[in-house]
Amino acid sequence: EKGGYDHFMLKEIYEQPDAIRDTFRGRMLADQGLIKMAGIDDHIDKFINAKRILVVACGTSWHAGLVAEYVFEELARVPVEVEYASEFRYRNPVIDKDDVLIAISQSGETADTMAAIKLAKESGAFVFGVCNVVGSSISRESHAGAYTHAGPEIGVASTKAFTTQITVLTLIALQLAKKKGKISTSDFHTYLKELETIPEKVAEALTTNDLVEKIAAIYKESKNCLYLGRGFNFPVALEGALKLKEISYIHAEGYPAAEMKHGPIALIDDQMPVVVIATKKGHYEKVVSNIQEIKARSGKIIGIVTKGDVDVKNLADHVIEVPETIEFMTPLLTTIPLQLLSYHIAVLLDKNVDQPRNLAKSVTVE
Ligand code: F6R
Repeated sequence: EKGGYDHFMLKEIYEQPDAIRDTFRGRMLADQGLIKMAGIDDHIDKFINAKRILVVACGTSWHAGLVAEYVFEELARVPVEVEYASEFRYRNPVIDKDDVLIAISQSGETADTMAAIKLAKESGAFVFGVCNVVGSSISRESHAGAYTHAGPEIGVASTKAFTTQITVLTLIALQLAKKKGKISTSDFHTYLKELETIPEKVAEALTTNDLVEKIAAIYKESKNCLYLGRGFNFPVALEGALKLKEISYIHAEGYPAAEMKHGPIALIDDQMPVVVIATKKGHYEKVVSNIQEIKARSGKIIGIVTKGDVDVKNLADHVIEVPETIEFMTPLLTTIPLQLLSYHIAVLLDKNVDQPRNLAKSVTVE
C-alpha cells in the first residue's frame, strides 16, 4: 500500500507531480487560456465585490494561506488577511457581510477551522472551503468550495496537501485577477502555461533526493535549525521548520530573512544550520547579504537556489537547486527539498515518520 516506498510520507512527497496535475485537471485549459472552476465562477460576484478576503486555517494549511495572501495581493490586488482559526474564532473578529472567507483544511474536520466558518456565516460572509477530503464537514458547511484532489494523505505530516492547496489557491487568484481586469490576457496565458509545467519541475526538484539525504546525515544531530525566506518564500520557511519539528523533534524556527537582525541572529554559531531559500527572483541580492551575515558568524548555510545559481553557491556550505519558474510559483518547488530534508533527518534518527508522537492527522478537538 506504500507503493514500494518505506513510508507514506515519502510516497506522498513523490506523488506531488501527479497530485498537482490532478488539482488543475479539467480546471485549467492552458491551450485555450481558460480557467473553469464552478465553485468560483458561480460566485464570482462575491469575490469581485469583496473588499477583502479572510483566510482561516491551522498548521500547514495556514502556511498555504500565507502563500495565498502574497499571490492574491500580487495578482488580484485584493487585501487578504490570514488568521489562525483558533485565534480568529475567539477574538471577536470584525467580519463584514461583504467579506469572503476562505477556509483551508486538508481533512475538512479541524474543529477550530469549522468554528471560524460558523462565526463568519453568522456575520453573513460568504464562505469558501478548500478541502482535500471529499464530503468532509468543512466542505459541507461552506457555501461553495474547491477540492484539492490530492488523493488520500496518510502521513501525519502534510506534504501533497500543502502543494495542492497552493495550486488551487493560485488558480483562484488567477481567475479573480482576470475577472477583475487586474492582469493582461497575455500575462494570464503566460501564467497558465507556466503552471502547466510545474508538475515536471516538481519532478525535477525531487531528483535532489540523494543530495538532500547526504545533507540530512551531516546535520541530523543538530539541536536547532533556522529556516529563512522572503516574500512568497517566507511561508515556505515556516513550513520547512514545521516539518522538521513535527517528525524529527528538532527545534526549528522559520523567519522572514530580514528579521534575522532583529533577534534570531544572536543564536547563530557554528552549530546552527540555517536553511535559506534564495531563488533568483524575489529579493535575491538581499537574501545573499543575509547569507553573508550568517557566514560572518560561522553559521552553516543550506541554500535552496535556482538552477545555475552562482552567488549563493560561492557562499553556502551546501546548495540544493530547483528549476526556474515565475516568482509566485516558486513555493511549489522550494517546498520539495525541505520536505525531503525533514523526512531524511527523521528516518536517520529512527523516528516514526508517518505517525509522529503527540500528533493526530485530524484535530477534531480544540
Ligand atoms: C502539519 C499538519 C498540521 C495540519 C493542521 C491542519 O504537517 O499536518 O499542522 O496542517 O492540523 O489540518 P487540516 O488541514 O486538516 O485542517
